[in-house]
Amino acid sequence: MHWLGLLFLSVFSFVVVQPLPFASDVKDALLSDQHISSMPYNEDQIEATELITKYGYPVEEHFVTTKDGYILRLHRIPPIRKGIAPCNRTIFLMHGLLMSSADWVLLGPEKAFAYYLADLGYDVWMGNARGNTQSKNHTKLNPHHSKFWKFSWHEIGTIDLPTMIDYVLIQTKQKALYHVGHSQGTTTFYVMCSEFPSYNKKIIAHYSLAPIAYMKHAFSPILRVSSKFVHSLEFMSAIFGVDQVLPHNALMTLIGNQYCHAQEFSEIICKDSLFLICGFDQAEFNDTLLPTFMGHTPAGASSRQMFHYAQLIDSGRFRQYDHGLDNIVHYGPAHALAPPSYDLKKVKAPVYLYYSRNDWLSNEKDVIRLCNELGNCKDKVLVAENLFNHVDYLWGINAKQLIYTVVTDDIINHLPENEHHEAYDETDTDEYQK
Ligand SMILES: *[C@@H]1O[C@H](CO)[C@@H](O)[C@H](O)[C@H]1NC(C)=O
Ligand SMILES: *[C@@H]1O[C@H](CO)[C@@H](O)[C@H](O)[C@H]1NC(C)=O
Ligand SMILES: *[C@@H]1O[C@H](CO)[C@@H](O)[C@H](O)[C@H]1NC(C)=O
Repeated sequence: MHWLGLLFLSVFSFVVVQPLPFASDVKDALLSDQHISSMPYNEDQIEATELITKYGYPVEEHFVTTKDGYILRLHRIPPIRKGIAPCNRTIFLMHGLLMSSADWVLLGPEKAFAYYLADLGYDVWMGNARGNTQSKNHTKLNPHHSKFWKFSWHEIGTIDLPTMIDYVLIQTKQKALYHVGHSQGTTTFYVMCSEFPSYNKKIIAHYSLAPIAYMKHAFSPILRVSSKFVHSLEFMSAIFGVDQVLPHNALMTLIGNQYCHAQEFSEIICKDSLFLICGFDQAEFNDTLLPTFMGHTPAGASSRQMFHYAQLIDSGRFRQYDHGLDNIVHYGPAHALAPPSYDLKKVKAPVYLYYSRNDWLSNEKDVIRLCNELGNCKDKVLVAENLFNHVDYLWGINAKQLIYTVVTDDIINHLPENEHHEAYDETDTDEYQK
């Protein structure tokens, strides 16, 4: 019965079709990373660090340990390159679900967002959430054990993100920074600022690419259908012990290489399963880069992250993880029936939202609602290309013209405001700090 749980879980993932014939291999791969050493070397599977140095950019790797023991890896492209004048802006990029810091550089020099920002003199930092390939380490827990995976994006937003931001601010001796998130990287931002409002003042402005908070109108048929089974999925994963979803490892890379090469029939399957989740957009998709994308994605996540999103689609609300009958234990008697909602009004940092018509996850209606409810929504910007989809923000051929230049213009035109910095008094300290 193991394969059945895996089958349902893989429905959530990008590579829907490929793992099925390999169910038992997938299970082994899920439970053990030892496959990596026995797999052939694959040049697409190089670390983000190597990817960056390959093109002559300086890169630093930093590690920070959260209060609950997860060891997170950050990448930095410092503004020290010859011929590039520092613009004195520190910017923090946070990746989306099943992605990692590598996704900010995959398009290559002059095209990828991280390189583009570095070329403009930004001090570029890229975070990695617990559980992805870059942050799969812990002081005590072993990723092969289910205890490691007992987290959702709530923990990424309330623990990982503040920990990384504090670390960057200390390293750069800054009081506040610019923050860009993609997909889940926007969710975790709203979670952080609503749960720990004092973090608002550490953000000069936040830029949300493909914002995800409300998912009532998410169109993706696979996700809509799967969300109806969220309780049985949780039940199955509890029984079968599948705690993580599609970690990136040699097996995935191998599948990516064997089945996702351009000019092959199976490329269609590979790409279509991606499009089925994110929206179809052949025009923006660079087929040559497909094996590279597949070499880094999916970068792994806990199944709870998936379930938590499925709950948002199911409930139409933006709220904490629904533990069902255990809600009373986690949230107290007042929330026995439903978990507490995130209070978006408390997100007082200036927020800019970027959304597109063909994004099957981040729907215009949900984005408008989000903007209305956020404490300080400065603008919502529709991408000037109707076919732009959820992953085009990172992988799209024209992402630079359509989105990166728009964001950097908005950064330059953003007038720093100080009101929200003073809006909090000492009594508003973080529980997080306690
Ligand atoms: C950045 O800071 C340095 C040192 O404080 C200063 O010399 C330089 O003019 C600043 N650059 C910009 C673009 O503000
Ligand atoms: C995980 O962290 C421990 C403790 O810092 C370290 O000794 C170990 O080398 C790390 N493992 C990996 C795979 O990075
Ligand atoms: C697609 O990617 C390849 C490899 O990076 C690059 O050489 C090519 O210019 C890209 N195509 C387009 C249309 O951007």
